[in-house]
Amino acid sequence: PLKIAVIGGGSSYTPELIEGILVRQDHLPVRELVLVDVPMGAEKVSIIESLARRMAAKAGADIHIHATMDRPSAIRGADFVITQFRVGGLDARAKDESIPLKYDIIGQETTGPGGYAKALRTIPVILDICREIEELAPDAWLINFTNPSGIVTEAILNHTRVKALGLCNVPIGAKKDIAKALKVDFSRVQASFMGLNHMGYIYSATVDGVEVLPQLIEMFDDPPAGVREHLESMTDIIWPMPFLRSLGMLTSPYHRYYYRNRMMLEEEKAHMAEKGSRAMQVKAIEKELFEKYKSPHLCEKPKELEQRGGAYYSEAAISLIDAIYGDKGEIHTVNLQNRGTISNLPYNAVIEANAIIGAGGATPLVIGEMPTRVAGLVNEVKAYEQLAVKAAVEQDYDIALSAMLANPFINDYEVGKTILDELVEAHSPYLDYL
Ligand code: NAD
Ligand code: G6P
Ligand code: MN
Repeated sequence: PLKIAVIGGGSSYTPELIEGILVRQDHLPVRELVLVDVPMGAEKVSIIESLARRMAAKAGADIHIHATMDRPSAIRGADFVITQFRVGGLDARAKDESIPLKYDIIGQETTGPGGYAKALRTIPVILDICREIEELAPDAWLINFTNPSGIVTEAILNHTRVKALGLCNVPIGAKKDIAKALKVDFSRVQASFMGLNHMGYIYSATVDGVEVLPQLIEMFDDPPAGVREHLESMTDIIWPMPFLRSLGMLTSPYHRYYYRNRMMLEEEKAHMAEKGSRAMQVKAIEKELFEKYKSPHLCEKPKELEQRGGAYYSEAAISLIDAIYGDKGEIHTVNLQNRGTISNLPYNAVIEANAIIGAGGATPLVIGEMPTRVAGLVNEVKAYEQLAVKAAVEQDYDIALSAMLANPFINDYEVGKTILDELVEAHSPYLDYL
């Protein structure tokens, strides 16, 4: 029987995880599920605890579900630890999104200086969690979902002995969109990703093993309704054909921040002026969701959860756990150490790539050399990410500044330093260590 600990259990995404566990009851024997949170999330996690119990009861599942603030007791003896927490909550996210924007720099939860501040708040906490796993559950697998997922996983894999994989819902979402655009069943589709978290290029897509990427790229040329929405959901933009032909690959939604930086900056400014930050919008969605979750009649994940960006995330997380526990040898897209998979990225860099998943963990499929047309940008972003981890681990302001200046969005020392200092100040006490 399995014990799973979920750190950040008060997340509105947790009912998805519960659903993912319950639909696999016949072969994934989860008997204990512990939801860990901090005092800030006490009310949320207790609502989730009750809802999860109702969902389990309705499904006739024999699972002991309980919420706690005692993290070590939750980790002790766990087989899987899922991390999905947000240090500082949505108020901190609002600062990450608004401060860079004041200086005409993208303000985003995972990309650019906003994501950097989130990484600096998160890394000390994830390293503490990993020390507890090393001591109390040394054989456990850590499935990290906490953003910025690639950077957080980079810290785990380069600074602890914990067995870990980083996860994002973008790759599974892209596969779903490809299946819908081509009007074929999801099970027939495979897509290969190369790069980093939120910087994954799709360099191959197949249906029944037959390559369809060129055809998929051509579909961006004036797509008809019924196809258009699926392409748009995959990349968040209908890329112009000259761009896609020059790239020869498909992108994630987050590539827009690099290749359409000015447009995205204007979009963010307009969004901020009209509706406030995404954090504030998410707050409103959350409020509505938790009202629903409270209802004693609700025994399933409500439809409104689809307003959040993390669609299919639980399917990705629980099917990954399933593949490890069941030694399935399936292909999943995960964040893991490069170790030569991509020859023109550092050996120890954490990358997002396809890997064969079994009881021994993940074996990445060989990629080789990234094309020159993307290698510069990906290496630049990875250098920033590695410096970000180093700054948090060594608690060093000079390194923190060098990471900020290495970020491709920052091309001016004064702007970079001003944003860093303002973020450090705004995020006191989380960033007082710098
Ligand atoms: P949230 O604000 O609801 O936070 C989740 C819970 O974490 C809250 O209940 C909060 O109280 C708790 N928390 C805060 N600090 C904690 C700590 N130190 N220890 C334990 N719990 C703590 O966040 P959310 O919107 O549900 O997202 C959760 C996390 O998952 C975020 O980091 C988000 O960026 C990430 N996420 C990742 C992906 C992905 O693709 N990898 C997709 C969606 C969300
Ligand atoms: C996508 C990304 C996540 C990100 C989320 C934001 O799912 O993959 O990494 O956290 O969007 O969604 P939100 O609803 O919080 O804005
Ligand atoms: Mn993601």
